[in-house]
Amino acid sequence: MRAVVVYESMYGNTREVAEAIGGGLGTSLDVLVLPVSQVSPEAVAEAGLVVVGGPTHAHGMSRAGTRKAAVEAADKPASPLRAEPGALGPGLRDWFGSLGQHPVKAAAFDTRLHAPAALTGRAAKGVARSLRAHGFQMVAEPESFLVTRQDRLEPQETARARAWGARLAASITPSPAQATSD
Ligand SMILES: Cc1cc2nc3c(=O)[nH]c(=O)nc-3n(C[C@H](O)[C@H](O)[C@H](O)COP(=O)(O)O)c2cc1C
Repeated sequence: MRAVVVYESMYGNTREVAEAIGGGLGTSLDVLVLPVSQVSPEAVAEAGLVVVGGPTHAHGMSRAGTRKAAVEAADKPASPLRAEPGALGPGLRDWFGSLGQHPVKAAAFDTRLHAPAALTGRAAKGVARSLRAHGFQMVAEPESFLVTRQDRLEPQETARARAWGARLAASITPSPAQATSD
């Protein structure tokens, strides 16, 4: 079974999380990790699991204006941040806008600041809502991975993302014992 991890990322943190999730999924699935600009409709239609994530901007999924602000912040001479290729878009909202209905298993994640979710918001909730609206069957609660105020992943988050991916894969694939008894 193939899993497709779709991500949007301004500064590389969500890409790193997506790659780590892909690593975890790869323990039992065939995996493609793709930026949102490079996902074909066929890749989604043929997948057994689709995992979608992006950065939390203004309490939810990014918009053209927040992506522009993110790139402008990175472009300031004193900024240590670098904007990812394609940071200006399309973003996840644009992708959902042209996505058809897919009765495929799915899960949502985001990156957000390390603070209570009630204060930061969570893009993953909107991602999960959009996936459900497009016919996907959610197989996990939306998950957040945390960044510092300097926009760097908290140190343990890559390992946590990998473990989350591995658990996700295990939850949708029969164990060897189950497979032989079926
Ligand atoms: C314009 C803008 C708005 C943001 N708004 C929020 C927010 O409302 N809540 C939050 O937790 N983080 C917010 N952040 C921080 C992002 O979540 C953080 O930059 C992102 O998770 C880093 O992932 P990336 O490197 O993949 O872009 C914002 C960042 C930018 C640039």
